Amino acid sequence: MFDARPQHNEYLRHRAQQFRSQVARRLDGSLTEDEFKPLRLMNGVYLQLHAYMLRVAIPYGTISPDQMRTLALLAEKWDKGYGHWTTRQNIQYNWPKLVDIPDMLDALADVGLHAIQTSGNTIRNVTTDAYAGAAADEVVDPRPYAELLRAWSTDHAEFQFLPRKFKIAISGGEKDRAVIAAHDIGLRLRRNEAGELGFQVWIGGGLGRTPILGQVVREFLPEADLLPYVEAIISAYNLAGRRDNKYKARIKITVAERGLDVMRDEIEAEFLNRRAVFTGVDQDMVAEFRAVYAAPAFRNETDGDYEERRAASVGFRSWTDTNLSTHKAPGYASVMVTFKAPGQTPGDASADQMRLLADLAERYGHADLRISHDQNVVLPHVHKSDLFALYSELKAAGLATANAGLVSDIVACPGMDYCALATARSIPIAQEIADHFRARDIEDEIGKIDIRISGCINACGHHHLGHIGILGLDRAGVENYQITLGGDGYDIPAIGQRPGAGFPAEEVVPAIDRIINTYLDLRDSAEERFIDAYRRVGAAPFKAALYPVNA
Ligand code: HEM
Ligand code: SF4
Repeated sequence: MFDARPQHNEYLRHRAQQFRSQVARRLDGSLTEDEFKPLRLMNGVYLQLHAYMLRVAIPYGTISPDQMRTLALLAEKWDKGYGHWTTRQNIQYNWPKLVDIPDMLDALADVGLHAIQTSGNTIRNVTTDAYAGAAADEVVDPRPYAELLRAWSTDHAEFQFLPRKFKIAISGGEKDRAVIAAHDIGLRLRRNEAGELGFQVWIGGGLGRTPILGQVVREFLPEADLLPYVEAIISAYNLAGRRDNKYKARIKITVAERGLDVMRDEIEAEFLNRRAVFTGVDQDMVAEFRAVYAAPAFRNETDGDYEERRAASVGFRSWTDTNLSTHKAPGYASVMVTFKAPGQTPGDASADQMRLLADLAERYGHADLRISHDQNVVLPHVHKSDLFALYSELKAAGLATANAGLVSDIVACPGMDYCALATARSIPIAQEIADHFRARDIEDEIGKIDIRISGCINACGHHHLGHIGILGLDRAGVENYQITLGGDGYDIPAIGQRPGAGFPAEEVVPAIDRIINTYLDLRDSAEERFIDAYRRVGAAPFKAALYPVNA
């Protein structure tokens, strides 16, 4: 679990206390909203359309049952009973009262959680693979390194005022499940030919208004050099990044404007300087974190009646077919619990649901929980003999929807429902699409497909990476939805392409329907996923279906 050392919690309480006095001064009018803004942003507090919003970091998505119960407490006591999972392994509370936020931060500090650096031009919550430590294809568990980066970056004196926000993702699998190409720095653990452990280092990725995929700046960085190298990258960016124009301030623009080779030379030079003063304490910390993240004692027993249960229950079989992933330990599976049930706001979790998951993780999942990039929760280690009992309890709570990775498992930002920056709604569009394909009863037939929606160009819903992406815009006061096709954050990173003009809200579902029908007609076999078929045939047939000539 996240390393909740007592001195760390002490520090978090101190930070919360500082903020409490700032809030008091805002409430009694001695601070204006403008004066208060930089202070609240340092504590993850935004001002939305209707209320303040608190964004809490879930370090690399890994959370303990007690921490999850605290998230439930916050939802119940100081919000409307819900929290909202984000695409960055955070949770957001959309309705807190400003006067309550210091109490919320105190409650978080008690379990080692916080909202520091969840906003502002700083290094944000480090993200990783939701299946870290569990996936069958894992080279090595990335979390000790993620924890090193978290400990180093939280309140790092040099990097509090970067040109713009900065996001680091780290992946430990043969397959990248941390979307490293869409981050300011992406780190991929790998072994070289000599069997030594290190990182492939990517820089300059990011979505938002100018989506750009990262590029490899170093093929192999020995693992012991991680911190000095990351420091060198951020230091080079801190110096060269543009501060004259907010929209050109991310490292992706710095790399695009100056060229990867120039950046690499500067990074390598700075790296040598920085490495010279490293004492090795970082390596001691990694060793300590490796012990914290050592695999649980996996049980060595048979699958029990797992196969008989599968044969006997269609619902259970369908759920195991869809929501499980292959685990590295024999007899185990990783379970995806989706927060995309019919009618649900994608990613909204109630206090009761959070508490239930905390209990279930203790009972069946080695007390480990992960928040995924697609606004769901993963129980990474469940023994197959426990799966039916787990399924039954989830089902009773409406949390056993067998749709992980299917057409109704849509990622959506809050859009116009909450967000002050939104130009269109996202949640209702996601719900309409999900309802439509459920009504057609062809979810399983369509198979795995990634649909993502953002309510404005900031791309919080990662629409560029959706196999089908939807971007809500405002066209002269009318909501208009731009569709992109062929994006992919995982297997072969790609930014989705726009086949043509956007659609008004009521035409989005019919347009997606035409895309799906085209895919079903032209796929090679039921095994060929939408994205693979799209890559094989290109955009033309989809374009023709979206914009019929006689329409
Ligand atoms: C009050 C609500 C929110 C505000 C004001 C907000 C604001 C922004 C802004 C301005 C950007 C663009 C940054 C840039 O290009 O430099 C951004 C990016 C992003 N946001 Fe949000 N956001 C909000 C909620 C969310 C939510 C709910 C999610 C997840 C569901 C999210 C996930 C992201 C992600 C993943 C990006 C990254 C895009 C990139 O790689 O550049 N945000 N956000
Ligand atoms: S994409 Fe736009 S509308 Fe959606 S949460 Fe981000 S800033 Fe708000």
